[in-house]
Amino acid sequence: MLAIEIIEKKKNGLQLTKHEIDFMVEGYTKGLIPDYQMSAFLMSIYFQGMTKEETSNLTLAYVNSGDRVDLSAINGIKVDKHSTGGVGDKISLIVIPLVASVGVPVAKMSGRGLGHTGGTIDKLESIEGFRIELSEEEFNYNVNSYKMAITGQSANLVPADKKTYALRDVTATVNSIPLIASSVMSKKIASGADAIVLDVKVGSGAFMKSIEQAKELAQTMVDIGNSLNRKTVAILSNMNQPLGKEVGNANEIKEAIKVLKGEGEVDETTVALTIASYMAVLGGAFNEFDIAYEKLENIIKSGEAIDKFKELIKIQGGNPEIVDHPNRLPKPKYSIEIKANKSGYIYNIYAEIIGISAMLLGAGRRTKEDKIDYAAGITLNKKIGDKVSIGETICILHTNKEDYNEALERILEAYIISDNQPAREQFIYEIIK
Ligand code: URA
Repeated sequence: MLAIEIIEKKKNGLQLTKHEIDFMVEGYTKGLIPDYQMSAFLMSIYFQGMTKEETSNLTLAYVNSGDRVDLSAINGIKVDKHSTGGVGDKISLIVIPLVASVGVPVAKMSGRGLGHTGGTIDKLESIEGFRIELSEEEFNYNVNSYKMAITGQSANLVPADKKTYALRDVTATVNSIPLIASSVMSKKIASGADAIVLDVKVGSGAFMKSIEQAKELAQTMVDIGNSLNRKTVAILSNMNQPLGKEVGNANEIKEAIKVLKGEGEVDETTVALTIASYMAVLGGAFNEFDIAYEKLENIIKSGEAIDKFKELIKIQGGNPEIVDHPNRLPKPKYSIEIKANKSGYIYNIYAEIIGISAMLLGAGRRTKEDKIDYAAGITLNKKIGDKVSIGETICILHTNKEDYNEALERILEAYIISDNQPAREQFIYEIIK
């Protein structure tokens, strides 16, 4: 088999066999196929797309490139969730204790930040002592005993995706539906979950900018999951502006605590409860979504949810006192208030620019060697639809960096103020089952 013949075939819009897809993925992972041929292959997929069968085969080829996590030592239906990436997306921090509270085991493997989007693992590391490296025994023990554990992805989980993702990042082939779907689903399948809830973000801060595109991506992922016997549900949620009011690592921990105490913003509370409810239903705790939603709301109201979060921090070595004393989380040296330059309504907040600005303040890594500043981030005092007067604070930048000018310049492009009041934002657009 020759790589050039396979590239030619896809370039001409023909369907590839499983054998041909395996040949490309395995060859590239082992270094037998060079970057330039893989780039051409990815670009041909970008333009010609893939059939359902090809996308499932690509997912399996990715899964088979590395280790598979064996969760068979954990009792019950293991349900995982995955977000396609957003700004201020602290949903995982909220749903882990919530779903565990109703007895569904959450064996969570999470990643670090990617591009302008933050990672759950980085956020949890802002809690002093919190260990994200757990041995397999400790991970399984915690899920069996407390119904929850979170760890970083093992180094050899889907190496084909790791290598291909880095290449897609520099060849303008990230936002292709079959490529995103196989990348996401291969990681979920390799992580060993029995059921999966996907949070597909739509809008200016997401890879999918329109509802139509997001729907197609969601349906593709649900089809892959179902074809591989994983019950899969996808939620299309709004990423036209960051979720909640806090962006950054320690900032997002503080805000997740608020949601778990019942004091959170309505957008993130709604998205978290929706995802947690589907997880609870797929995990067998409830037959119906509405019953699960009501029960989980009550778990927040009763204080059980926040107690479960304290427990998560404690069993992973962190200091649970930060829940009652969030001011013990890392604090920034500088907090710079950004003022409105005109009066009106907040018409738009470009989530991607907020994410990039937070990264420039130190909240994310621009290179692998960069150290994260856990205190860095942005507080959004005003969100879309809010009224502002000239000179009023619209957001606050937090950093330990003396030189924050680049972030300051970018942040001014993120907020659009208009005389017209925008239409009400919807938090959840659709559910794909
Ligand atoms: N998240 C992933 O894991 N992969 C993609 O391709 C895009 C978002």
